[in-house]
Amino acid sequence: MIYLASPQSITAGAEILRDGGLVAFPTETVYGLGADATNEKAVRALFELKGRPSNNPLIVHTHSISEIDYLTGGRLTNTQRSQVQALNAFWPGPLTVVVPRGPAIALAVTSGGDSVGIRIPKHPVATNLIRELGRPICAPSANPSGYVSPTCAAHVEESFGDVAPVTIDGGPCAVGIESTVLSLLGPMPEILRPGAVTPAMIEAALGIPLARMAASTHENDHVIKLSPGLLTQHYSPQTPLIIEGTLEHSAYPSKVGIIRMRPPAKNADRFPYACVATLSTSGNLEEIARGLFATIREFDTRGLDLIIVEPCQSEGLGSAIMDRISRAAAKAPMESTPNA
Ligand code: TXA
Ligand code: MG
Repeated sequence: MIYLASPQSITAGAEILRDGGLVAFPTETVYGLGADATNEKAVRALFELKGRPSNNPLIVHTHSISEIDYLTGGRLTNTQRSQVQALNAFWPGPLTVVVPRGPAIALAVTSGGDSVGIRIPKHPVATNLIRELGRPICAPSANPSGYVSPTCAAHVEESFGDVAPVTIDGGPCAVGIESTVLSLLGPMPEILRPGAVTPAMIEAALGIPLARMAASTHENDHVIKLSPGLLTQHYSPQTPLIIEGTLEHSAYPSKVGIIRMRPPAKNADRFPYACVATLSTSGNLEEIARGLFATIREFDTRGLDLIIVEPCQSEGLGSAIMDRISRAAAKAPMESTPNA
């Protein structure tokens, strides 16, 4: 059931969460599937509904940096404390920091681990829901494990069908890809998942360099150990998806859709695509990020044999976009086994 965002739907959503239920809600990045982060049973039900491996920890969402001591049980080192203060410049916003876990957080949230990912989302529905509940909300993206993240309320219903949770509709997500995940646990801060808050922005705020990010985080064993969610195959549609240029035209199957980043040049290929989408008229990275997941989902309903995605420049936000596209393409091309 979809509830339009309103004070009444926020009260109703908080009531469901207080009773140990699940509620999907908008954030500025993607829609989240929320549970009371202090309720062990509710969190286990969340893993169950999402089909999420229990070793993949959830992000805890809060409304203010004043909650940090409660969420970490006062376990921040002085360095972590000053880093979190400096990173507050990006909150509310698309940044998650991984810090020591406090005892108030249900163990299932962190997969039994000693660290917790925390973020303050920017969408007013998210922060009002957390305030109304009076507790932190843990939330993965509101999609069945392995599928493309939802960027509007209808995506949540489409993915979960009969077992869809109550979803509060706060409109389409402004950012469109998931938050940057930054670990503050090691000797140097380290990006575990690229997002709209870029390494350059973080380095400028912290005044120190970050641990060097692997060219492709999802192929980095070290990062996968730190953050098991960052498995190679992720964000994948049912339809095989490849990056343009990785398959000869002559090997294209008959029904091919192409997702372009910008309008094609005049001399672009003349392949008879079954569908064409252009994410931005000017190659604007914010626009591309905002439209990417919805377009992949839409193409996945068209009965195509193959989805081709044009690559974009891989700097700043572009590197986060390419990270998501590479993961969606990580399934062997043309193999059509459905995702878990
Ligand atoms: O933008 C977002 O981050 C969205 C919205 C709903 O906030 N959430 C989201 O959650 O993308 P999810 O569960 O789909 O991805 C969270 C990622 C996973 O890769 C997980 O492994 C990592 O964050 N993560 C969470 N807690 C962690 C921890 N304590 N240590 C390392 N990685 C962690
Ligand atoms: Mg996810």
